[in-house]
Amino acid sequence: MAPDEDVISAAPATHYRVELTQTKETYECLPHETLLQGMARLGRRGIPVGCLNGGCGICKVAVVQGSWESTGPMSRAHVSAEEEARGIILACRAAPCSDVQVEVLGKMQKSVFKGWGAPAIGTPNNKTDG
Ligand code: FES
Repeated sequence: MAPDEDVISAAPATHYRVELTQTKETYECLPHETLLQGMARLGRRGIPVGCLNGGCGICKVAVVQGSWESTGPMSRAHVSAEEEARGIILACRAAPCSDVQVEVLGKMQKSVFKGWGAPAIGTPNNKTDG
């Protein structure tokens, strides 16, 4: 391995790739940017921008692969501690720490996937919106 390869691999990520599992659609998040901020840049009609502070629960997602960090408190009325431990979180209060795969849950499914074909509405996770 050439010395330069070590330097390149040790460099901090400039962005992380986020994949929506239901549609395989992808977008990028800058480090410390929330999953919802990146999702909003998709420019898709219907992506809700609610309270942006973890209070309304509209942006509930499940991180099914990859790691994330909290950017602030999430309302326990919308995400229990047990759910959060399983990666069920509010996208406005979480930033990816790696490339991640995210499943959109609850009320946001209907708006995000409107006109997108066959969304995964009706999956067991659809019942997790409170
Ligand atoms: S936008 Fe309200 S909880 Fe995320």
